[in-house]
Amino acid sequence: EKIPLSLKVNGKKLKLKVEPRTTLLDLLRENLNLTGTKKGCDYGQCGACTVHVDGQRVNSCLSFAVMHEGQEITTIEGLAEGDKLHPMQEAFVKHDGFQCGYCTPGQIMSAVACVREGHAGSEGEIREYMSGNICRCGAYTNIVAAIQDVKS
Ligand code: FES
Repeated sequence: EKIPLSLKVNGKKLKLKVEPRTTLLDLLRENLNLTGTKKGCDYGQCGACTVHVDGQRVNSCLSFAVMHEGQEITTIEGLAEGDKLHPMQEAFVKHDGFQCGYCTPGQIMSAVACVREGHAGSEGEIREYMSGNICRCGAYTNIVAAIQDVKS
């Protein structure tokens, strides 16, 4: 049986009915068509599904949508303001912080949280904070450079 759920996604208030077992990730991708958030492993190991919940980063594959009643979700689609990219998006472009791009939305959501939470003080700190976001292409050096650029 579906359960009523109210939440805010990228600034928009929504009232939905969802299956209790639907993950936040599937809700975003399948029900709301917000496919910027990626499904890599679907069990908390890769970070491709990273979004913000009330400003905190979360692996959306690991939480059920119904747990987020009343909360505010931000996805990669919600970062830019109109045509103006978020500074972290700009920095990823400038520093080539991606190759295939599959992990990029999750990397950027984590990177924004990294700076906001004050974990971008050194390369080591950044690498530690970002260690849950896997990049198979190995763009790590450029990702760190992008984060350091935004931080400075
Ligand atoms: Fe959620 Fe990999 S898809 S951590």
